[in-house]
Amino acid sequence: MVFLKSRQTQAQVDWKRLPRHVAIIMDGNGRWAKRRGLPRTAGHAAGAEVFRNIATYCKDIGIEYLTVYAFSTENWKRPEAEVSAIMGLLEQYLLESIEKMERDQITLHFLGDLSPLSPKLRELCDRTQNISTHYEGKLHVNVCLNYGGRDEILRAARAFAADCAAGKKKPEELDEAAFSGYLYSAGVPDPDLVIRPSGELRLSNFLLWQSAYAELYYTDVLWPDFSKEELDRALAAYQSRSRRFGGV
Ligand code: FPP
Repeated sequence: MVFLKSRQTQAQVDWKRLPRHVAIIMDGNGRWAKRRGLPRTAGHAAGAEVFRNIATYCKDIGIEYLTVYAFSTENWKRPEAEVSAIMGLLEQYLLESIEKMERDQITLHFLGDLSPLSPKLRELCDRTQNISTHYEGKLHVNVCLNYGGRDEILRAARAFAADCAAGKKKPEELDEAAFSGYLYSAGVPDPDLVIRPSGELRLSNFLLWQSAYAELYYTDVLWPDFSKEELDRALAAYQSRSRRFGGV
């Protein structure tokens, strides 16, 4: 019976038709910890571990871009201890990455305003981003850090307006491709699939411009329980959709 059940729930993924870019809102860490009587920070630590595993899996199966929401512009409202625990996990991850990212063929970029971060974390972001320019990665990981979709769009609009004021650009030159070039994600293809675990049905200010035609996948599973099998289910659901991009 157990064998039959696991066969039934196993997702059928066509490995030749994978999305190029998968984006994930890593949600549900706090609830996962609460259900176990643990501090919320234990949920973030478990979430960071799952992120490592999912990034490795994405690389192994041939996904080119993985973007994750690690810390939003609104997350500063959380208790100071929780904010520093998340920043500490990011530092730990980046310190580990410095040693092995080239060997693992993973490049790292950060989307967001890094200026309010600690000098140590900023330096690690700069260093890993700089290392990423020295080789062609198999998987490009974008970590959204102090990121907000509206904030990103406003900054892009301001930067374009400044270029116009400086005589470098003309308002009529602005089209979607040109505007995309002013976003933090300049040069990164739009996400094909956006995954939100933990049962919440919102985008929460994540990749608002870039997700215009993304397929959305929601699951009740909390992020620290998210697995390769869960990602397979999301990929199979993505492949079962008909993407028309506004056409018929
Ligand atoms: C949302 O869950 C999660 C976060 C705001 C933090 C995500 C951070 C990590 C997984 C750790 C560091 C990341 C990397 C890339 C190493 P929540 O706290 O809102 O959960 P809840 O909705 O259950 O309260």
